Amino acid sequence: MQKNILVISSTLRKAGNSDILADEFIRGAESKGHSVEKISLQAKQIGFCKGCLSCQKTQNCIIKDDVAAILEKIKTANVIAFATPIYFYEICGQLKTLLDRTNPLFTTDYQFREIYLLATAADTDSHAVDNAVKAVNGWVECFPKTSLKGVVFGGGVTNVGEVRNTSAAEQAFKAGQNV
Ligand SMILES: Cc1cc2nc3c(=O)[nH]c(=O)nc-3n(C[C@H](O)[C@H](O)[C@H](O)COP(=O)(O)O)c2cc1C
Repeated sequence: MQKNILVISSTLRKAGNSDILADEFIRGAESKGHSVEKISLQAKQIGFCKGCLSCQKTQNCIIKDDVAAILEKIKTANVIAFATPIYFYEICGQLKTLLDRTNPLFTTDYQFREIYLLATAADTDSHAVDNAVKAVNGWVECFPKTSLKGVVFGGGVTNVGEVRNTSAAEQAFKAGQNV
């Protein structure tokens, strides 16, 4: 079945390693005929959630920035892949800020069912991704119709482009193929 896939790449570094994993995931998914859209958070205006909770009544956020358009795409995707650099053993702040802003979707008929996490870090230890998995799982648990289907972690990559031609890049491609 052809799926509607949204890939959200959160690094602000041009051609960053996590962005390369995002592109490999996309290449894999497109090779199987899925429809894929990529959103990069570079140049996006994303303000912090103010915690007013008015979105629980109105399904809209009081903050007028680029998030409303991103939420429309999140809501209607069947599959979402979040790509993030590991910052201080966590997802990066820009992705966390976006996840906080998804609160308006909480009371809606969102379509996403499968979530993937693609992450890169300087550390080679496979546990370097653990807190990021926990963070994304925390979000997933709040959207009970969905689940975390896969994690691809590229460790030991610091400089731009280093993740290219690694087993993590291959795993991201395969994860995209197997969506
Ligand atoms: C602010 C900051 C914090 C970082 N924190 C960590 C960390 O806690 N552990 C780690 O292994 N690498 C850390 N790194 C390195 C990045 O995770 C690594 O370079 C990654 O490949 C960057 O992905 P990107 O190119 O997609 O931005 C940090 C980098 C930055 C800029």
